[in-house]
Amino acid sequence: MTMELTLAEKAALLSGQSVWESRAVPRAGIRALNLSDGPHGIRKQLGSGDHLGINGSAPATCFPTAATVANSWNPELAELVGEALGAEAAALDVDVVLGPGLNIKRSPLCGRNFEYFSEDPYLSGKVAAGYVRGIQSQGVAACPKHFAANSQELRRLASDSVVDERTLREIYLTAFEIVVREAAPKTIMSAYNRVNGTYAHENAHLLQEILRDEWGFDGLVVSDWGGSNDAVAAAQAGGTLEMPSPGLDSARQLIAAVEEGRLSEEDLDARVAEVIALVERVDPALARKVDDAAHHALALRVAQESQVLLRNTGVLPLAQGTKVAVVGDFAKTPRYQGAGSSLVNPTQLDTALEAMAGTGLEMTAYAQGFHRLGGQDEALAAEAVEAARGADAVLLYLGLDETSESEGNDRTHMRLPSNQIALLARLREVNENVVVILSAGSAIEMPWLEDCAALVHGYLGGQAGAAAALDVVTGTINPSGRLAETYPVRLEDNPSHRYYPGRGETAEYREGLFAGYRYYATAQVPVLFPFGFGLSYTSFEYSDLAVTDAGVTFTLENTGDVAGAEVPQLYIGREGAGVHRPVRELKGFAKVALEPGEKTTVTLPFDAYTFRHYSVAQGRWAVESGEYTVSVGASVEDVRLTATHTVEGDAAPVDRRDELPSYHAATVTDVSDEEFEALLGRELPASTPGAGAPLGLNSPLLAMHEARNPAARFAASTLKRLIDRSQRKGKPDLNLYFLYNMPFRSIAKMTNGAASMEMVEAIVTIVNGRSFAGIGALASGAVRNARESKAMAADLTHPTPQASQPASNR
Ligand code: BGC
Repeated sequence: MTMELTLAEKAALLSGQSVWESRAVPRAGIRALNLSDGPHGIRKQLGSGDHLGINGSAPATCFPTAATVANSWNPELAELVGEALGAEAAALDVDVVLGPGLNIKRSPLCGRNFEYFSEDPYLSGKVAAGYVRGIQSQGVAACPKHFAANSQELRRLASDSVVDERTLREIYLTAFEIVVREAAPKTIMSAYNRVNGTYAHENAHLLQEILRDEWGFDGLVVSDWGGSNDAVAAAQAGGTLEMPSPGLDSARQLIAAVEEGRLSEEDLDARVAEVIALVERVDPALARKVDDAAHHALALRVAQESQVLLRNTGVLPLAQGTKVAVVGDFAKTPRYQGAGSSLVNPTQLDTALEAMAGTGLEMTAYAQGFHRLGGQDEALAAEAVEAARGADAVLLYLGLDETSESEGNDRTHMRLPSNQIALLARLREVNENVVVILSAGSAIEMPWLEDCAALVHGYLGGQAGAAAALDVVTGTINPSGRLAETYPVRLEDNPSHRYYPGRGETAEYREGLFAGYRYYATAQVPVLFPFGFGLSYTSFEYSDLAVTDAGVTFTLENTGDVAGAEVPQLYIGREGAGVHRPVRELKGFAKVALEPGEKTTVTLPFDAYTFRHYSVAQGRWAVESGEYTVSVGASVEDVRLTATHTVEGDAAPVDRRDELPSYHAATVTDVSDEEFEALLGRELPASTPGAGAPLGLNSPLLAMHEARNPAARFAASTLKRLIDRSQRKGKPDLNLYFLYNMPFRSIAKMTNGAASMEMVEAIVTIVNGRSFAGIGALASGAVRNARESKAMAADLTHPTPQASQPASNR
């Protein structure tokens, strides 16, 4: 770009011009970019965009959600999904696909777990890298999100993730590191939350020091929608583009900061260069043509590879001609994706009832059985019992309903509705072959497990998921999905249980490194299903482990009667003294398909991630010299082969056992303030503002429950009432969740210029009970906003030569 840009044009380029578009500078040949969700299907809104999904979106293939695809343990398959997403995006004129989401599942309760991959960073990173490679092969940009430590929906734009540097690096950043290093995404989305005190979109440690300087990211960082806080701080720290549109308010702030010397032209130019570079780097014309039928077939294949068989007393697979009663609301109305910004309008949708036709099973009856939103209904249950009585087997479709898993709202428990569990028990009394087919995007408790003869977990299988689950039931496919997250026996076993969600201003990651299986395996807490677990219709034998400095090799044999695929997993642990570590950490895996009796040599190479840990004292990745346990197995608990391997590292072992006893023992469920402070290396920030403290620009609207102004308190309770009502109706309302958790500043960030930050400050003054002062300031702020926006819009339409500045420093 040789054309010179004015200061106003540069400033304007750093925020969106509408909900889904960046700004254009036509005279300089810079076009607006189209950004669209999302992770498992394109959500290109029709009509006016509103981010919160009021207007419907164009039909697109709804692939299984990330939580589901992760169960395939197959990055190549993820790449095919990415290619399809990229092609569909291009066909809809979308330049940037806002996904994949790869936050680590810190708690089973996070409302968005269904759209994240795993509790493990290595698996998340590898699968996400597949998506990114696929999406970008079509000329469009991928946008891995939400960077970083975005683990809860409560107060999601107004919460500070307090996490020690080692945990941050090893658990919450490593997946992003893998994606950046292996797939070079052209954009990345910063998270809503603060990370250790600073908002992610203006966090120089994350965006500059780690993302750009260490990992070599050279793309654009876009804020999550409404997640930008201070436009000037973002430009300084490496946050490029603020979305959606704050009107020209942020641009004016940038101009003032440059003029007053608070923001260097160099920083501004660097961010502008990132926008221009992206415009030049995307080329949707490279995409292949979309074939809806082929994409549906791919959605089916992905769902097939992602099914996890969790229990089988021998009833499965069902033979052709078996008389089955089909029971459960989910058989008729599938639960196949989650709620929120990832919601896709599918090109077609298979239901289990329809898919039964092609199975060779004989359906004797269908009964709804229960209401998906809960509540007992004796007539429905009795009808189901009758249906079950005469059949050889019962296919019982259970699941979480649409309100249970949604962006914007964390779960409060891990249970299935009690009416479903009660029905299972009754069916079991009349038929001992009850096969449960489960739809849920996150882990649940299963005290009822013994009541079923088999359990097929389909997760959220996308538009073709129904047929995939039946393929497992009939043995048309041999299940090869493995859990990408642990199923604890009960919620209280989860290591973050006491700390999650952070209800005040902070979310404290006191369990440190011990997320998911890292805790259960190390602290030896029994689980329902371990990480990496999944059954098959065949059996595999592991033998002949050999370990060299380059990696491991071993022999894998299919010792059963049918073809199948196994997912051998490589785990590493440390022997002897050293920094505290989980007993086993995933460092490699493969998906290996074998015919009956076939055997093969599997190689899992070591890489830069295998033995490293982050040395806080040295401020770098380090490898402690000494002995490591190398384990290969079929799950984190099912280790088949082990060896000890001596590593010549670059650091002597450091042991802080006296200072960090809970972390060395992995007893991290109730860490004291003192010990967490020792881990953090600083004092704990306060999580509650002092009693009676006024609300601020970054207080969430839900804090109005405690506001001085009675009208504000009324507004908060009205919002809460509306949320409860939408939940009772079974239709989660993302708008309401968003409003309730968003801070006041987002009013300016989300209203396309209708409100400026100055006006929002006035609103906060009113909420704090100083109504007269606030109303006055609001009125004068509104007048100023209108006047200045008009003047700047004119400046942008007819740039004056004196306002011209050198073009970006590219
Ligand atoms: C979500 C993002 C999404 C964006 C745009 C936000 O509320 O957190 O994941 O991409 O909206 O819809």
